[in-house]
Amino acid sequence: MKLKILASTAQAESTLLIQKAAQSLGIDFEVLLLDHIQTSAGAIFHQNVELVGSPDLMIWLRLGTLSRRRGLEIARLMQMRGLRLINSAEAVELASDKIESYERLHKIGAPVPRTWPFSPEIRIRASELHHVKPRSPVSFWIKTRIGSQGIGVSWAADATHALAQMDLIRVSEGSGVIQEHVPGEDLRLLVCEGRILGAMKRTAAAGEFRANLHQGAKAEPTEPTPAEAALALRTTHAMNLRVAGVDMIRHENSAVVLEVNPSPGLAGISACLGKNLAVEILTNFKTNS
Ligand SMILES: Nc1ncnc2c1ncn2[C@@H]1O[C@H](COP(=O)(O)OP(=O)(O)O)[C@@H](O)[C@H]1O
Ligand SMILES: [Mg+2]
Repeated sequence: MKLKILASTAQAESTLLIQKAAQSLGIDFEVLLLDHIQTSAGAIFHQNVELVGSPDLMIWLRLGTLSRRRGLEIARLMQMRGLRLINSAEAVELASDKIESYERLHKIGAPVPRTWPFSPEIRIRASELHHVKPRSPVSFWIKTRIGSQGIGVSWAADATHALAQMDLIRVSEGSGVIQEHVPGEDLRLLVCEGRILGAMKRTAAAGEFRANLHQGAKAEPTEPTPAEAALALRTTHAMNLRVAGVDMIRHENSAVVLEVNPSPGLAGISACLGKNLAVEILTNFKTNS
């Protein structure tokens, strides 16, 4: 097996972890930096060397919010050239779009918080939100359509504040969702090829409500219930992802899905669980490729 990682930087923690894992497993690997990629007449070049597919080559997309658009453009071209991606461009595009992915989750009947999409053309009215139970200090979440690591996610104590935040996004030509707050424990489950590799419970930092590790949350290992594990596998499958990080809120003995992340961080969860999940993922692909 050969591995190429498509990313905007080679230095991100999880990308470094994947490189080290590849090295320790004797996998021939290379990071393809988006800034070093050129295309010409449908062909793709990395530092002037043409990328060509081979049966043993796999491409791992590691796209952040800012590299998403360009990364997906290159990823689609790669697919057209016959290169094999671990998570396909279409699946990453869907899962990283908070409006489209919510609609997919809703369509398959996965439990999700009540959610209202908005855009410059679609404005949510206060009357639509009136049956959401007010909670202190958070009743609503406001999310930009594209975002990750908690960036692009905000909260509001009441509908008035939620709608004002929605309008801030709309006047900048943005779209997104308003979502009801679901109280409970924040979980992240890491899925690879129909298996749960591990799960952590995340607790937001003081004064913060987003439980992302990038926002200072603390993590501890947790054992998902069979229902939570099944939900993570089902939603990952519905998004056509082979590797994903599923975020859930464990609430009154059941769980709702917040998102299915197509480029999940591996460093934080590996440190939390005391096992190298990059090695586990690559071992899986090495054995089955
Ligand atoms: N509806 C909600 N109910 C409770 N907490 C939420 C809700 N939506 C978001 N959060 C909190 O904010 C965090 C980030 O939200 P998420 O939708 O996963 O966006 P991101 O892609 O930025 O991680 C979640 O992990 C959770 O702690
Ligand atoms: Mg998340």
